[in-house]
Amino acid sequence: MTGRCPFGSRRGFLAAAGGLAGALGAGQNRAAAVDSTAEKGISVAGQGVARTATEPFWGERQGGILTPIQNHTYFAAFDVMTDNTSDIVALLRAWTEAAARMSAGQTAGPLSPDLKGPAADSGEASGLAPARLTVTFGFGPGLFTKNGNDRFNLARLRPEALIDLPGFNGDQLIEARSGGDLSVQACADDPQIAFHAVRQLANLTYGKAQMRWAQSGFSANFAAEDTPRNLMGFKDGTQNPIARRPVERSKGISTSNPSNDDDVVWVGNEGPVWMRGGSYLVVRRIRISLEHWDRTDTEFQEQVVGRHKLSGAPLGGKDEFDALDLDATDKDGNPIIPEDAHVRLAAAASNDGAQILRRAYSYNDGLSFTAERWPPWRQGTLFDAGLLFVAYQRDPRTGFIKIYEKMSKLDAMNQFTTHVASGLFAVPGGVRPGEFVGQRLFDAG
Ligand code: HEM
Repeated sequence: MTGRCPFGSRRGFLAAAGGLAGALGAGQNRAAAVDSTAEKGISVAGQGVARTATEPFWGERQGGILTPIQNHTYFAAFDVMTDNTSDIVALLRAWTEAAARMSAGQTAGPLSPDLKGPAADSGEASGLAPARLTVTFGFGPGLFTKNGNDRFNLARLRPEALIDLPGFNGDQLIEARSGGDLSVQACADDPQIAFHAVRQLANLTYGKAQMRWAQSGFSANFAAEDTPRNLMGFKDGTQNPIARRPVERSKGISTSNPSNDDDVVWVGNEGPVWMRGGSYLVVRRIRISLEHWDRTDTEFQEQVVGRHKLSGAPLGGKDEFDALDLDATDKDGNPIIPEDAHVRLAAAASNDGAQILRRAYSYNDGLSFTAERWPPWRQGTLFDAGLLFVAYQRDPRTGFIKIYEKMSKLDAMNQFTTHVASGLFAVPGGVRPGEFVGQRLFDAG
């Protein structure tokens, strides 16, 4: 299926490129450097994993969900432009093949030996190592029905869990930057690898789909045993049902529920066959008012989050992994973790046990020149930066919606955050060799 070509590897691209090799010489040297560090067992990526490492593409489940978080992401949502089922199937087939190749460190498609004509790969990943690239595909509601039109005879197969997300208190969603019929999330330890992957997949959509919105993100180079910090300066991901397991293990903390991911993340027999082993992705672009946050007292910030800033410990605790004590009160009888603290409202104990797997990235899109102030105050500029919130769950109705409904009204963090983009996507089960992503859906259609 991956149609190997002697010039299909990224290093082969350089060899094939002849005259081009001079221009790409720096990349070639970099590839050699990476290879040699791998041979010596020296890791070159921030999370202690060599950039030469790959993540599997084929399997029972798609990558990029339980995969230990990579340092960079590029997320894109697409509108499908065709009404022709065979076009969509051809696109998903081409996407599958290209994603599998790129995850293995190859070019998106086989290159012709003489590099004549438009190439099957734009070339900017040539000489770069795979950097643990994962590509995760999702299907939005519009793939099933669009404006009442059952374009692909899939309407009856739309899972109940793939609902239209309700509006939440405080939402300021920009429609043109929300939703989408198809989603692609590339994650890698190298930003150029993540962007390259989505760029190649976007090239394959020509005449069939077009990009609706996209968002890049980063997660800092913390050591594997440390929880990354978000732009608010707090550790983010401490209380996560699965992702913290390596952290717990490295600190000798026992993992309470080893099968938690089945309960929280993966669709089981309650879902259609094509969704089993899949999950539901909620993505929200959440702008953080960094200027406002940075002028706020640290003690107040800690009250807002419900955790200490430096250690990440819950208020009233000492260690990052201490359990939240939601019943603890001070000498005056006030709760130590305030009633409106983010972690109190988000905790499973406050939501009838509801949990989600968060896999968020920070984003930074420069400045916004629209400041909501009026003379005589100075018109200002603000960072357009925040959190690309990414959460996976078995069912959004009992996951994100259940948890966020109340948070959107009561969370003290809402003073500093605004949700400006949103999407819900059904992420089908993994792809077996010889299949294309979502094939079992189209077979049933
Ligand atoms: C800019 C937006 C957000 C920021 C900066 C943020 C930050 C944080 C931080 C610092 C923590 C504590 C550390 C941890 O356990 O990971 C946390 C926990 C959590 N957050 Fe958020 N968060 C944001 C949005 C959201 C949203 C929209 C949800 C929606 C459901 C959410 C759900 C959770 C959950 C479930 C926890 C774990 C609570 C627990 O069980 O202790 N967060 N978040």
